[in-house]
This record gives sequence, structure tokens and C-alpha cells, in this order.
Amino acid sequence: MTSAVGRRARRRHCRDGRRNPGTCNYGPERDGHIPELDSKSLTSSELLLRYIPDAMVVKAFNNIFFKHLLSLARPAGAADRSYLPIAGDSAPAKAAVTEFIESIGYGVVDAGPLADGWRQATGTPVWGTPYGPFSNEKGRPVDADAIRAALATATR
Ligand SMILES: NC(=O)c1ccc[n+]([C@@H]2O[C@H](COP(=O)([O-])OP(=O)(O)OC[C@H]3O[C@@H](n4cnc5c(N)ncnc54)[C@H](OP(=O)(O)O)[C@@H]3O)[C@@H](O)[C@H]2O)c1
Repeated sequence: MTSAVGRRARRRHCRDGRRNPGTCNYGPERDGHIPELDSKSLTSSELLLRYIPDAMVVKAFNNIFFKHLLSLARPAGAADRSYLPIAGDSAPAKAAVTEFIESIGYGVVDAGPLADGWRQATGTPVWGTPYGPFSNEKGRPVDADAIRAALATATR
């Protein structure tokens, strides 16, 4: 959705208090400096929530390159099914996002509340690299244990 109509739809969607997968990554060189993120007093999803307080934000998809997301989808039960971390404060919203992610070919690892979203933020061990280099669009399958291990070794 790239049109003004799309932007209005997204805003309406947010105002309705629905579940919003937060895919955002913070990059000061691209986004400009944001004091709350530079000081690490908030995660990017917590900051997003300030702008859409009625929404239920679940941080998801931010750690995988979109071409890998396309290539690595596998049916439930496949030995090489890949996993994605999610972080959020609402159990029902997490359940809805989990159901969606599972429906498109991935398993889910619960990475905790939104305050722990930094564990999957830009540059952390779980961000991008587990699924292989961006230069190889096929990507590399990543199981749940590898995602858990990467989340556990993140430092802030
Ligand atoms: N690309 C990836 O592989 C990938 C993977 C994981 C996470 N991410 C993260 O996801 C985020 C989006 O990345 P992207 O690749 O999807 O970027 P993108 O293709 O540039 O899309 C950005 C979208 O945001 C909309 N937008 C921009 N400013 C807006 C505003 N003020 N209000 C409402 N909508 C606005 C744009 O709408 P218009 O086109 O109408 O302006 C566009 O649809 C980034 O934080 C990125 O780091 C990207």
C-alpha cells in the first residue's frame, strides 16, 4: 500500500485499536536521530505505541530481509521450517500475529514484551544474518533454538 489512500487506511487501522505488526528498524543514518532511541529509554515499538496508543503492537518481521521471507516459507511440520521472533505486551495480539505468521510458512519464538524488542533490533545477533547474506535471495533456514540462542546473546 503506497498511496495516500493506503496511508489513510493504515491510520484508520491503527485508530481502531487493532493488532499491528511493527516491522520498523531504527537507523539514524536513514531516519534521523531520535533521542528516545539513541538514549535507549524506549524501544522502537514502544515509541511507535506512543503515536498509536489504542493499537496493540507486536514487533515482528523486522529481523528478516523481505526476499528471505519469500524464499524461506515452508509448510507446518517441514524439517526446514524457519522461525521468527515476536515481542509484544498483548497476549491476544501475539496469538493473532502468531496465527498469521504460521499461516504464511513460519514458526514463532516469543521474545517477550515490547520492552524486550531491542533483542531483535537492528544489528543484534537475530537480525538478518541468521537467514544468510542479503546477496543470496534463497536464504538459509533457521530453527527455533537458533532464534532463542541469538535473542539470548543480544546486548544493549
Ligand atoms: N525491506 C526489508 O527487507 C525490511 C525487512 C524488515 C524490516 N524492514 C523495516 O520496515 C520498515 C519499512 O521498510 P520498507 O522496506 O517496507 O520501506 P518502504 O518500502 O520504503 O515502505 C515504507 C512505507 O511506509 C509508508 N510511509 C512512509 N512515511 C509514512 C508516514 N509518515 N505515514 C504513513 N506511512 C508512511 C510509505 O508509504 P508511501 O509509499 O505512500 O510514502 C511506504 O508504504 C523500515 O523500518 C525497515 O527497516 C524492512
